Amino acid sequence: MFVVTLPSLAVLLALPTYTLASGIPVVVSPGLNLSSNPNVTAHIPSCTNLTNNAPNPYCYTKLQETAYLTNWNLTSPELCAPDELWSTCYLRSVYGKPGPNCTSLTNSTTTCAQYNCTTLSLSTPLCPEPTPPNSTHNATVATAEAYYGAWSIYALQHHIATWSAALAANTSTAAILAALNPRLPNTATSLLATLIPKYGLNSSINADAALVTLLKLPTGSAVPQLAEGNARLRGESSSLTGPQWQEALVIRLGQVLDLAMRRFETFLGAVKGGAFSAVGLEGVGNLTRSLRDG
Ligand SMILES: *[C@@H]1O[C@H](CO)[C@@H](O)[C@H](O)[C@H]1NC(C)=O
Ligand SMILES: *[C@@H]1O[C@H](CO)[C@@H](O)[C@H](O)[C@H]1NC(C)=O
Ligand SMILES: *[C@@H]1O[C@H](CO)[C@@H](O)[C@H](O)[C@H]1NC(C)=O
Ligand SMILES: *[C@@H]1O[C@H](CO)[C@@H](O)[C@H](O)[C@H]1NC(C)=O
Ligand SMILES: *[C@@H]1O[C@H](CO)[C@@H](O)[C@H](O)[C@H]1NC(C)=O
Ligand SMILES: *[C@@H]1O[C@H](CO)[C@@H](O)[C@H](O)[C@H]1NC(C)=O
Ligand SMILES: *[C@@H]1O[C@H](CO)[C@@H](O)[C@H](O)[C@H]1NC(C)=O
Ligand SMILES: *[C@@H]1O[C@H](CO)[C@@H](O)[C@H](O)[C@H]1NC(C)=O
Ligand SMILES: *[C@@H]1O[C@H](CO)[C@@H](O)[C@H](O)[C@H]1NC(C)=O
Ligand SMILES: *[C@@H]1O[C@H](CO)[C@@H](O)[C@H](O)[C@H]1NC(C)=O
Ligand SMILES: *[C@@H]1O[C@H](CO)[C@@H](O)[C@H](O)[C@H]1NC(C)=O
Ligand SMILES: *[C@@H]1O[C@H](CO)[C@@H](O)[C@H](O)[C@H]1NC(C)=O
Repeated sequence: MFVVTLPSLAVLLALPTYTLASGIPVVVSPGLNLSSNPNVTAHIPSCTNLTNNAPNPYCYTKLQETAYLTNWNLTSPELCAPDELWSTCYLRSVYGKPGPNCTSLTNSTTTCAQYNCTTLSLSTPLCPEPTPPNSTHNATVATAEAYYGAWSIYALQHHIATWSAALAANTSTAAILAALNPRLPNTATSLLATLIPKYGLNSSINADAALVTLLKLPTGSAVPQLAEGNARLRGESSSLTGPQWQEALVIRLGQVLDLAMRRFETFLGAVKGGAFSAVGLEGVGNLTRSLRDG
């Protein structure tokens, strides 16, 4: 790790834009530590009162969370094991290691249980909801930034898992079949892009929009799009039954979740603007009712 002189905010804003592979421009300088720049910290007192201020998009921006996470990514590779997901490594750096045998900080993936937010399970101890630090003092900026990162990981996993559970319900089959476009080759992705805006609820508008954008990304060779495009290949509007479509949708959601937890820049694009810096993203019950009742 190396230390550089911190530039003023004006200089920071004038830095060349570093464009990540997915096309997200962020202002970043390797080694820049926003947490200790008083010109940043002076502007965000309320965002460090974590007990009182639930995660919110305003503070995501004020905390310069995108730049913070980018900086973490650039300066933390030595913390991570070669075969460790970036999200797992990040959560370990925030929480420490889970598991009874993990007494010292180590990046071995064999001795300790791994944080794992790639699963569509709604109750997984390995992808915990972060609790804000319990203190009579406001958190430091660095703590608030770390918390927002962990929260965004949790909320992205939980929101995708929520959609997955709601779409898999038997009562959702009719809505899914009704969303098929009779004139186009439908895919799991195109169907999700129709269903999510149509049946999503107000409390999750930002998260839903971010999820639809995320779904448009190609999954890449590491995560093949297994269930997608059966109909396209045969030139049919729908060659799958309702339950088969449901299975395809769940597989596709699992793929993009895995991708975001595996590929840092994909995650950053999904949570930018604080799309997942929100509490009370919709629950399975309400979403299932929305799909059932139209
Ligand atoms: C903060 O801003 C002031 C005024 O623009 C500048 O003089 C100072 O160098 C900045 N400090 C840091 C640490 O960037
Ligand atoms: C950034 O600065 C904060 C506050 O001075 C410090 O606690 C933290 O360790 C620094 N982070 C890095 C990566 O240097
Ligand atoms: C703590 O946060 C509250 C807002 O939630 C703010 O009014 C107060 O100034 C903060 N205290 C410090 C020391 O930054
Ligand atoms: C930072 O992001 C790049 C691009 O996604 C990735 O290859 C690298 O492993 C990441 N580094 C860490 C420490 O997660
Ligand atoms: C993490 O793992 C790498 C490669 O296995 C190793 O070189 C490095 O020292 C480890 N870092 C820590 C903090 O354990
Ligand atoms: C922890 O270590 C004990 C004693 O070596 C072993 O019996 C146990 O299976 C380990 N637990 C885990 C979760 O690895
Ligand atoms: C994470 O969980 C998924 C789904 O349960 C599993 O397939 C995967 O192997 C796990 N990854 C790690 C590193 O434990
Ligand atoms: C956090 O503070 C509340 C209220 O003071 C207290 O009831 C609770 O036990 C504390 N939790 C922890 C983990 O310290
Ligand atoms: C956080 O904000 C609440 C309400 O604004 C306030 O009562 C509390 O004292 C603040 N905490 C700190 C540590 O400033
Ligand atoms: C849901 O659908 C499956 C497959 O079509 C069926 O086996 C199951 O009994 C249904 N469950 C309920 C509660 O209707
Ligand atoms: C949700 O948004 C729609 C359209 O903006 C609005 O008509 C409706 O009242 C909202 N519902 C709730 C519960 O806020
Ligand atoms: C479900 O909707 C009701 C009424 O709009 C709302 O009060 C409740 O908080 C929602 N539940 C969840 C888990 O989002």
